[in-house]
Amino acid sequence: MSKVLIIGAGGVSGVVVHKCAALPEVFSDILLASRTKSKCDAIAAQLDRPIQTAQVDADNVPELVALIQSFGPELVINVALPYQDLHIMDACLETGTAYLDTANYEPPDTARFEYKWQWEYHDRFKQAGIMALLGSGFDPGVTSVFCTYIQKHYLDEIHFIDIIDVNAGDHGYPFATNFNPEINIREVTAKGRYWENGSWIETEPLSVKRSFDVPENIGTPNIYLMYHEELESLGKHIPGLKRARFWMSFGDSYLKHLEVLGNVGMTRIDEVEFNGQKIIPLQFLKALLPDPASLGPRTKGKTWIGCQITGLKDGVEKTFVIYNTCDHQACYAEVQSQAISYTTGVPAFIGAKLLLEKKWTGNGVFNIEQVDPDPFMDDLNAYGLPWKIIDGPVVQL
Ligand SMILES: NC(=O)c1ccc[n+]([C@@H]2O[C@H](COP(=O)([O-])OP(=O)(O)OC[C@H]3O[C@@H](n4cnc5c(N)ncnc54)[C@H](OP(=O)(O)O)[C@@H]3O)[C@@H](O)[C@H]2O)c1
Repeated sequence: MSKVLIIGAGGVSGVVVHKCAALPEVFSDILLASRTKSKCDAIAAQLDRPIQTAQVDADNVPELVALIQSFGPELVINVALPYQDLHIMDACLETGTAYLDTANYEPPDTARFEYKWQWEYHDRFKQAGIMALLGSGFDPGVTSVFCTYIQKHYLDEIHFIDIIDVNAGDHGYPFATNFNPEINIREVTAKGRYWENGSWIETEPLSVKRSFDVPENIGTPNIYLMYHEELESLGKHIPGLKRARFWMSFGDSYLKHLEVLGNVGMTRIDEVEFNGQKIIPLQFLKALLPDPASLGPRTKGKTWIGCQITGLKDGVEKTFVIYNTCDHQACYAEVQSQAISYTTGVPAFIGAKLLLEKKWTGNGVFNIEQVDPDPFMDDLNAYGLPWKIIDGPVVQL
C-alpha cells in the first residue's frame, strides 16, 4: 500500500496512470500532477477508480517540494520531459522521496543528452538513504534489462550489443512523431554515435543504414544508426563490453519531411525573431504537429524492439536476440494509447512497482541495468510486454 506522485500528463503518463490505477494493492493512492491540470483530469476521467490531480510547474523546485510534502508519496514517477529531471530530483532530495524516470536530463538549449548531470546526484541520494532509478522506459529500460538478463542467464561475457527499434505502425499522417515532437526531432537530427572499446565513434545524422527481415512478419524496414542514451550507461555497467550500437527504423516519408523541415530551419532550437517576438522554430513546429497522444485511435501495425547480443558461453562465441512485439491497436483497446507510449509507460509502472514492493532497493542513483533483471522480466510477461529469445542472429549489421 503506497502513495505515488506521477508528474506529467502526456502520452506516456496516460499509460503509467492506467497501469498503476489497475493495481490498487500496490498503488493505493495516486496523485497525478502536471503543468496543465485539465490534461490530468482527462486521464483521471478514463479510470475505473478515483485518483487525485493537481497543477504543478516541475521546473519550480519550491512548488514541487510543497506538493510532495502535502501529499507525502513514497515515490515520484517523472514522466514529464527530460528538462525537468534535475528539478524533480532536487525536490526528491529535499523531501527524502524516491525518484524514477524514463529519459535522461537534457539541457533545453543544447541537444546533448547524457547521464553525467544525474550521476552527479549519486552521493547525495546515497546520503539521504533514497533510491533514484534512471531509464525505466523501453529504450532505455527494457533494452537495458534485456542485456543484463542475457548476461545473467545465457552468456558468461557480453562483447557486442545492437539495440534495434522498429516501429512498423502507420498513423496515416504524412508526418507526425510518436512521442513528444521536440524531444523526438532533437534526438533524430543529432549526430549518430556508438560506443567502441571505451570511446565514441561519431557518424553524420542518419548516414548509416541497413535493412532486415524483422521476425514475426513485421516487415523489411530500413534501420539507421543513432545515438541513444543507454549506450552510455551500458558501456559503463556491462563488464567486458567491446561495442554497443543503436538502430531505429524510419519510413521514407518521415525522413523526407524531416530533411525539408531541417533545410528550411524549422528544426532549429535557437531563438529567432518573428513579428517582434522571440520564438524557437522547433517549439513552433511542435504546436503545428499532431499531438502524439491523439495518434492512438489511428495507429495500426506493430512495434518490434530487441537486442542482438553476442558474447562468450563456455569459451564459445554465441549470439542471442531478445525482443518484444507490441500491437498499436491492442494497446489502444487496453489503455487508450498507441504502442510507443505503451512500451514506455508499462516499464515505468513495473519499475515503480518493484521499488514500492522493495524488490529493488538501494541508496543512490542507479541505472536500470544495475538492478536484478529477473523480477522485471517476469512482470513484463505479466503486464503486457511479453518477450522471446532467438538462438542466433537475425541480422548482419
Ligand atoms: N525510455 C523510453 O523508451 C522513452 C520513450 C518515449 C518517451 N520517453 C520519455 O517519456 C517522457 C514523456 O514523453 P511523452 O511522449 O509522454 O511526452 P508529452 O506527451 O509531451 O508529455 C509530457 C508532459 O510533461 C508535461 N510537462 C512539461 N513541462 C512541464 C513542467 N515544467 N511541469 C510540469 N509538467 C510539465 C507536459 O505538460 P503540458 O501537457 O502542459 O505540455 C506533458 O503533459 C519524456 O521524457 C520522453 O523523453 C521515454
